[in-house]
Amino acid sequence: MAKKDFSIAVFPGDGIGKEITKQALKVLTFLNGKINIDLRLKEGNVGGAAYDIHGTPLPPESLDLALKSDAVLLGAVGGPKWENLDYAVRPERALLDLRKKLGLFANLRPVAAFEELLHTSTLKAEILRGVNIMIVRELTGDVYFGQPRGVSKKTNGQSIGINTMIYTDEEIRRIAHHAFEIARNRKNNLVSVDKANVLESTELWRDVVTEVGKNYPDVNLSHMYVDNCAMQLIRNPAQFDVILTTNLFGDILSDEAAMLTGSIGMLPSASLGADHSMYEPIHGSAPDIAGQNIANPIGTILSVAMMLRYSMNLPDEAGLVEKAVEQTLKDGLRTKDIYQSGDKLVGTEELGESVVKNLRNLFN
Ligand code: IPM
Ligand code: MG
Repeated sequence: MAKKDFSIAVFPGDGIGKEITKQALKVLTFLNGKINIDLRLKEGNVGGAAYDIHGTPLPPESLDLALKSDAVLLGAVGGPKWENLDYAVRPERALLDLRKKLGLFANLRPVAAFEELLHTSTLKAEILRGVNIMIVRELTGDVYFGQPRGVSKKTNGQSIGINTMIYTDEEIRRIAHHAFEIARNRKNNLVSVDKANVLESTELWRDVVTEVGKNYPDVNLSHMYVDNCAMQLIRNPAQFDVILTTNLFGDILSDEAAMLTGSIGMLPSASLGADHSMYEPIHGSAPDIAGQNIANPIGTILSVAMMLRYSMNLPDEAGLVEKAVEQTLKDGLRTKDIYQSGDKLVGTEELGESVVKNLRNLFN
């Protein structure tokens, strides 16, 4: 039988984006000969790199490529070079527009502590053991997209900056169903995070999540205020299974949670919608270390594993990629961000090659 085609739009973006996606591409290229799917990779330009050429961070041909592909793999966007640009053409805008235009409302950010890295975290190893959290972040609503927004001058000469925190019940219902389904396939434990004691938009969030929860009596639902959640994540992170939260709170809590794994370079993500999907590490473009072959490509490689699981329906192969990463860590290989004395310090390239080598062994 002919192999099914699967097209991937690859957007390396800015800063370390190019180096880390290169390693993920090595993994995809290796897999291409091994799995029952024909991967078609097409590269495009987004972010500051695209702005420099086209004057816009998301040129129409890149958006078109994303819309026509079965999945998107993205590195990172942004950097000091573009920091003074208008919001409408900042590199970050490419990411936000891709999320919105592809309808990627569900952002999954798994946070798993690797046994080998327990001692690289700034937190005590004993509170990290067994941590395995899935953060489900709503990705196309909230203050990120709410209107009105902007900075303007009032008649009395004062400047005001406005952003609008806004959710409709439909947006909340959609992501809540998604999170309950995920909890069902894990430990049936869902914590919904809001600030319902102060913010009306999240009071609605709490009410709708509670309502949706009636359809999932097998899932244990509880609610937590975001300030308390921020504290609980470093006090006792092992208490969490699935965390469901809003766009802004999810952005903040996922950076915090990344520290449970030792480095923000470790965390992958999947952004899913009804018709499209995008995969990217949760970290930024790290311009300070770009081009030095020291960035950690693991978050991007693990994003490929998520692509195999969620977009190609290849959970076994996804597991093998995760195993290959684990083996690389067991072998003592570390990029600078997760290095401790006694480890083998390697560059971005060498780490990527080690994962492919381990993957090859797992396939043989
Ligand atoms: C993330 C990032 C983005 C966000 C930025 C780069 C726009 O921090 O994916 O978490 O705020 O969502
Ligand atoms: Mg973020």
